[in-house]
Amino acid sequence: MATDVKVLARADLSRLVAVVLGTRPGIVMLAPVLAELRRRQVPHFVIHTGQHYSPNMDAQFFADLRLAAPEYRIDGVASRTTHGAQTATMLEGIETILLERRPALVLVGGDANTNLAGALAARKLGIAVGHIEAGERSFDWSMPEEHNRRMIDHISDLLFATGEVAERNLATERVQGRVIRTGNTIVDASRLIAGRLREQSVRDQPAPFCVVTMHREENVDRPDRLKSALEGVNAAAEVLDLPVRFYVHPRTAKRLSQFGLEEWVRGLPRVTLHDPLGYLDFIGALAAACLVFTDSGGVQQEACIHHVPCVTLRENTEWTETLEIGANRLAGCDRERIVIAADAAVHGRREWEVPFGDGRAAARIIDCVEELLGA
Ligand code: UD1
Ligand code: UDP
Repeated sequence: MATDVKVLARADLSRLVAVVLGTRPGIVMLAPVLAELRRRQVPHFVIHTGQHYSPNMDAQFFADLRLAAPEYRIDGVASRTTHGAQTATMLEGIETILLERRPALVLVGGDANTNLAGALAARKLGIAVGHIEAGERSFDWSMPEEHNRRMIDHISDLLFATGEVAERNLATERVQGRVIRTGNTIVDASRLIAGRLREQSVRDQPAPFCVVTMHREENVDRPDRLKSALEGVNAAAEVLDLPVRFYVHPRTAKRLSQFGLEEWVRGLPRVTLHDPLGYLDFIGALAAACLVFTDSGGVQQEACIHHVPCVTLRENTEWTETLEIGANRLAGCDRERIVIAADAAVHGRREWEVPFGDGRAAARIIDCVEELLGA
């Protein structure tokens, strides 16, 4: 092959799938897909971009979800702090590997910079792109994830939509690729770990208790929003007379320290701070909680799956189905709205029907993958 090759010809490609991942939620979302690729013996390999790297954001998830170590890991990403530099380093690293291995398809899952880099590297080389969780939209143009999702969806060949809302969004945007409704692989992931949940981490905590996670850039990078949200969580817990376990994402830990808020947060009477948990421990804690406060996409879905009411610390959500069934309430970072939403959530019903599919999303995705590979 010429050394200055820019686009691979179809004849240059192998019957091989590359799976690109690199963040905590991406590992969860793709674990069932990797299990299904393995089960059907579809030739594949994994590229880890190195976006998340701390053991409790990365290695613990591979262990908990019984995943093999990735074949490739891109160097130098952790030290790149801007979106551009981080994405560029991943893009270049992924391209080098794709040129060497020449897979027929690259699969990415979600809306992090990792996924944009994977999809873009493949598209530019003429390799097909499959996007898991295609069509999710918050319609909030201030979110880096909204930019990534839209770009990925418009350069994908296979768009795996979780449900009707996502399908409708993709139809409205007239994407180029084929849209397939699959359900959410996060339901499959919860099934993968069923029976293995660990609750050791909360044994010291007499039930009932609440859980909080926060990491969205537009929340935690702004001291006013971060402070007001946590004040709201603490005030809600006072009213409900409940303790709160705050699992602090590394981005949030960094910001609390930079903003000089560490002592302040430790002084919140209802809130105790904890390192992020591995997947088995976290789902164990979440399922045992009576209420969750979060700005996480994955945690909103999992709260719904495990029938734990959720208060979302955002003004919008991609997972509008959870609002419609009463599993979730939007409260932004406003102190008073958080208190009102938490009270309504704890006293509301918990018997909703989970609107995220039947736990066979990964099987549907791999049916399409095999079709594309010509199995
Ligand atoms: C990223 C995704 C976000 C996703 C989130 C899941 C983008 C634009 N954002 O946000 O969509 O919801 O992951 O958690 O891709 N850090 C560590 N250890 C780690 C990872 C991060 O210490 O393992 C710290 C570093 O200081 C880093 C900061 O957290 O600079 C932010 O990490 P980054 O991956 O850039 O963004 P997230 O906030 O994690
Ligand atoms: N999670 C975890 N431990 C924690 C917090 C979250 O295992 O301490 C899991 C959670 O169960 C979900 C995923 O991480 O599957 C969500 O990741 P995150 O909130 O970082 O990102 P988002 O889903 O918002 O992109």
